[in-house]
Amino acid sequence: MRFKQMPLSHLHSCAWAYVGCFGFALGLVATPAAWAESSLPRPPGVAPGDPDRGRELVADRQRGLCLLCHSAPVGDARQQGNLAPSLAGVGGRLDEAELRLRIHDSRRVNPESLMPAYGVVDAAPRVAQVWRGKSIFSAQQIEDVVAWLVTLK
Ligand code: HEC
Repeated sequence: MRFKQMPLSHLHSCAWAYVGCFGFALGLVATPAAWAESSLPRPPGVAPGDPDRGRELVADRQRGLCLLCHSAPVGDARQQGNLAPSLAGVGGRLDEAELRLRIHDSRRVNPESLMPAYGVVDAAPRVAQVWRGKSIFSAQQIEDVVAWLVTLK
């Protein structure tokens, strides 16, 4: 009886060891991928952005609100925010895919980010009815904003 149980329990611990090893290996593969998150490709079906429309969205005091926190080479500098880095020259610091990720959801770069996640649906837990089920910007609007930001060299 005891003889019979031994191999069975052995088999169990072997199985767990296997699962553990597999999980560890998976972790090794997944970790660099998580670290490497710094960019976001243009989603399928979304046309290349229009920089003029993007510039308008950044300057818009009702939709983008970028100038609440940032300054940018658009409009009157005295009415622009200084909570966040200036967007002047940002196209020289970050490439298109890096910019897209930050507009879509800057928490994926900095989990503590104060910047609104413009591409995320229901990013805030309690938003007004009109915003429920919507992101602040559509994927196309994000493309437009990114298209303007890349020109800021
Ligand atoms: C509530 C404030 C706030 C608003 C509104 C905001 N941002 Fe930001 N943004 C930040 C902060 C703060 C950072 C610095 C990094 C961080 O904390 O995430 C940042 C970082 C960035 C960066 C990276 C800059 C760099 O040099 O690394 C870009 C690009 C950017 N924002 C673009 C925008 C655009 C475009 C808009 C409007 C569509 C916008 N932001 C709206 C606060 C804001």
